[in-house]
Amino acid sequence: RNIALFGAPVQEGAGKLGCKMGPDALRVADLPKELASLGHAVTDHGDLTPEPATGLTIPGAALNAEIITGWTRTLDKAAYGALAAGQLPIFLGGDHSLSMGSVSGAARFAAEAGRPLHVLWLDAHSDFNTPLTSPSGNMHGMPVAFFCGRPGMDGILPNDRPLVRPQDVSIYGARSIDHDERRALREAGVNVFDMRVIDERGTGSIMRDILDRVEAENAMLHVSFDVDFLDPDLAPGVGTAVRGGVTYREAHLVMEMLADRGVTTSLDLVELNPFLDDRGKSALLVVELIASLFGRQVFER
Ligand code: ARG
Ligand code: MN
Ligand code: MN
Ligand code: MN
Repeated sequence: RNIALFGAPVQEGAGKLGCKMGPDALRVADLPKELASLGHAVTDHGDLTPEPATGLTIPGAALNAEIITGWTRTLDKAAYGALAAGQLPIFLGGDHSLSMGSVSGAARFAAEAGRPLHVLWLDAHSDFNTPLTSPSGNMHGMPVAFFCGRPGMDGILPNDRPLVRPQDVSIYGARSIDHDERRALREAGVNVFDMRVIDERGTGSIMRDILDRVEAENAMLHVSFDVDFLDPDLAPGVGTAVRGGVTYREAHLVMEMLADRGVTTSLDLVELNPFLDDRGKSALLVVELIASLFGRQVFER
């Protein structure tokens, strides 16, 4: 694959500072070299800077809305441009608000290509709040609502942009969903695989179903990897840790099954907060998992 790395050091969508250092931590943990050693062509485009955005009025609670709007517009263009150039973009976050832009750009490209875009959202949270429902006002809790077109975030991108259909979004690893998000997710028809379902059904069965649908529809697949989907004992370098997360072995299986199908067309690595990490442990684990996603195997079959 022809992989394009883009740093997106945005932290204004999160409630704690530190995600700004995420892209560099992933580089220090040797992500580019690891991908190259698996035989991929890798270009690191360095860190993006958000375009200026002013004059926006968003009703409700949306902290730093203008900064996040600037990032969203910049990232939408970067994702679209990389896909149009035949590359697989990886966005090194940065907090999860960056997916407002990365997924929107991918959706725009998919719409022009006449293919549906599916999203695999690996996260302890569902990030389906809007400024009118958010308990915190933190925009990293809003990207899924944004690219599914829930009302309340007009003007960040054109309102007639291509959206992602809620039934094409699968949230995997959920264990913290706010009261208003719960009802909205159900009404919209988002697929939510919480830890209880994962325990009952197992990773293999759930991932098989998700990937079968992607293949059956010849869909593009955006994978959004929030580091807090992992158990915080494994990956403490996150700002919104929730116990009872995905294990080391489950996480590798998710990545290996994605690699087997080769259907991933774009990827976010988000919410890594190096300031909260333990001697680079979380960054190193993320790099190891991404190696599995891009083809590293224990025993080649
Ligand atoms: N649901 C909470 C909120 O809206 C937490 C969101 C956490 N999101 C994340 N990307 N870590 O504030
Ligand atoms: Mn998230
Ligand atoms: Mn999360
Ligand atoms: Mn579909």
